[in-house]
Amino acid sequence: MFDVSIERLVRGGHLEESRAARTQFLWDEIRRLKRDKHAFIPAHNYQVPEVQAIADTVGDSFELAVRARNVDARLVVFCGVRFMAEGCYTLAPHLPVYLPSQRALCSLAEVDADELEERQEFLRGLGRKFVTMTYVNTYADVKALSDACCTSSNAVRIAERLAAPDILFVPDQNLAYQVAFKTKRTYLPPPDPHAFHPKEYRERIEPLLREGERQGLVGNVFAWEGACHVHHNMTVADIATIRRDDPTAVVIVHGEVRPELQQAADEVMSTSQMAKYVETHPEKTRLAILTECGLVVRLELEHPEKQFYKPCRLCEHMKAIDLENVYLTLRDEPPECRVTVPEEVRAGAARAMERMIELAT
Ligand code: 13P
Ligand code: SF4
Repeated sequence: MFDVSIERLVRGGHLEESRAARTQFLWDEIRRLKRDKHAFIPAHNYQVPEVQAIADTVGDSFELAVRARNVDARLVVFCGVRFMAEGCYTLAPHLPVYLPSQRALCSLAEVDADELEERQEFLRGLGRKFVTMTYVNTYADVKALSDACCTSSNAVRIAERLAAPDILFVPDQNLAYQVAFKTKRTYLPPPDPHAFHPKEYRERIEPLLREGERQGLVGNVFAWEGACHVHHNMTVADIATIRRDDPTAVVIVHGEVRPELQQAADEVMSTSQMAKYVETHPEKTRLAILTECGLVVRLELEHPEKQFYKPCRLCEHMKAIDLENVYLTLRDEPPECRVTVPEEVRAGAARAMERMIELAT
């Protein structure tokens, strides 16, 4: 839980003074409605601080998925993006789950399930022994086609535990790189988005497959062509500037940044791992955290004794959630905000998510 006062938000420049009274009203109303309706509000680390402040739990996408299995409430109002709310419903289908904004989507999640089946067929045709690992930033139809889901906090561990030589990693090409690098597999770069040509792709990867075999690597990671627009647009120059200005600052990046940034950073982590690192390293007082700004803003509020460099970026999908739409959703339970998944798809997605939880813990 994140405890902050309105006065502190105003003083830190996170809330305009003219919004203070309205924010206090919304906090009071949301807290009253939560009690009266026996509602549960999970929030992702990227939410704005005034939303994190009224949440019952705040976490990264893995923590929020695990939490969904043990919610004792009559309804859920999810403060995050659609795939997270869908994941919550997938693991707790007895609960009505509401997402306060239709704009809370994710640039990674738009994977076409037919295209995934085509790629799986292609790899079978090549005689590869592979598993399909799907990042949770996908919808249920894609999860249902997977052997296991993963998040940025556990992708490496799950790849190791699935114990197949080859991995088709969907959809984040940069997290795919991290998995390949840490598990000693060959990273096979993705085809261009929506331009998978089997012959061309095969010609491109064959020399890389041979080189990996020659080096005696464990196997291969076939990267899908997805990327998060927020993290993929960060540059090595962002890190170089910090290193030049403050060579002893710790540079932490999210697993969704490009490979060259992962190589240039000190640590590659999920959002909650970043928060834990800051908490458990009092001696690290100057940090650059390359991820969405919501997390960095909260860390600044929690750790005024530390200095945070902020080459962070905003995710407009995460920022589509605000106190006004959380309040209205909780008050009115609008049917258009309800997130569900057809049962036959949900069951397959739940299997892949449960496998992740089993392998990750
Ligand atoms: P985390 O699982 O690290 O919270 O990441 C979720 C996400 O959407 C990253 O952009
Ligand atoms: Fe999706 Fe990127 Fe936004 Fe995370 S930051 S929700 S991966 S678009």
